[in-house]
Amino acid sequence: MGAITLHRGDITTDAQADAIVNAANESLLGGGGVDGAIHRAAGPRLLEECRELGGCATGDAKITGAGDLPVRRVIHAVGPIWRGGDASERELLASCHRRAIELAAEHGCARVAFPAISTGVYRYPLDEAAATAIAATRAAIARHPAVREARFWLFGDAAYRAFEHALDG
Ligand code: AR6
Repeated sequence: MGAITLHRGDITTDAQADAIVNAANESLLGGGGVDGAIHRAAGPRLLEECRELGGCATGDAKITGAGDLPVRRVIHAVGPIWRGGDASERELLASCHRRAIELAAEHGCARVAFPAISTGVYRYPLDEAAATAIAATRAAIARHPAVREARFWLFGDAAYRAFEHALDG
């Protein structure tokens, strides 16, 4: 079965991945945080491709090329905004991880880099996001053996510890 590995720092520097997952919004037209970093590193071709997609529902994901990034594909996943936990946040966060792995498998991407989706501007509590992201990803890569590795990139010690705990637990 595929592995889940943890990495510190900027996801746009990952040259070992085949695809990078973006924490996008429903417009798919860019934003701040990791979305901004990915579009800056990829250059204008990424936004041009995104414009063709007509947006993406929360909990779903869509795939494009990767512009100038050192990977083949960007998978734009839309996580939920945290609204206290009773607005299907857990299901939506799980489903965008599941969809990202499905798209990676369909497009032959064996190594997939993920950020901590929804834990920035969307305010999802880190520990809960980490538990859901790891559980959903583990289940999805078990169903899609074409995906050999999910590489989680964490910004800061708190995020790293939350994912380390989720992975051990
Ligand atoms: N590499 C890895 N992780 C990063 C990077 C990076 N370069 N930059 C930030 N993070 P966020 P969200 C971490 O806010 O909560 C955008 O405007 C960050 O510390 O990027 O899903 C979109 O367009 C945090 O842990 O995404 C949407 O509108 C995590 O990545 C909205 O933000 C996610 O933070 C999505 O919000």
